Amino acid sequence: MNLAILAHTEGGYGWGSPFEPWEFHPALNHLPIAFLLGGVAVDLYAWWRGRPNLSSVVTGLLVAGVLTGGLAWLSGVLALFTVPAHTEEAHWLMYWHAGVQTIVLAMFAWVAWKRWRKTTSSPWALGRVLGWIGAALLLVGSGLGGYIVYHGGAGIDPQLLTPEVRQSHTHGGGNDNSHEHANTVDHDHRH
Ligand code: HEM
Repeated sequence: MNLAILAHTEGGYGWGSPFEPWEFHPALNHLPIAFLLGGVAVDLYAWWRGRPNLSSVVTGLLVAGVLTGGLAWLSGVLALFTVPAHTEEAHWLMYWHAGVQTIVLAMFAWVAWKRWRKTTSSPWALGRVLGWIGAALLLVGSGLGGYIVYHGGAGIDPQLLTPEVRQSHTHGGGNDNSHEHANTVDHDHRH
């Protein structure tokens, strides 16, 4: 693994195995999405059906979401520094993705902490509203994450991409082609 971690290359900074460092992120990031959206959904159900006894279930789901979200966050940072070639558009969207997900995680961490420590009134209206906002932002942020991969090629084996994309945004310090940008994949070469 190349240790010049900030000078990105076409092939990324993998260890050459079938499971590369940037693949921890897609392996982990569905856990917080499921737990956090699940927590908000159960909270809505409890509110609608008047079931305050579900409150501790909601808190448990939110805490699980925040803990697994921490792992997703760390693996996201690892992916940012190791991921191979992708489009220039995907490159700047990556920062938006990271920013939105960081804000979402901080919001849910605060709500989960307050609920877990029982420092709020029950039912806690502000926590509920923050949960709705957090869920909406989480969908947007995760949608951006998907776009980066499925429309920007980030994390896809560069050998499968066209030369245009491979030279598009290689996170490259030493590569002369690294700032020849392309925002689209040449679909004529895809089957
Ligand atoms: C709770 C926090 C986060 C969640 C839920 C999340 C979610 C996602 C999702 C759903 C994808 C699309 C890939 C797939 O289908 O699995 C993705 C891709 C990506 N995310 Fe995140 N993300 C989070 C935090 C971050 C952070 C903090 C960074 C960077 C600092 C980051 C960087 C990336 C990168 C580089 C990709 C594309 C390459 C790859 O998946 O390895 N993410 N993320």
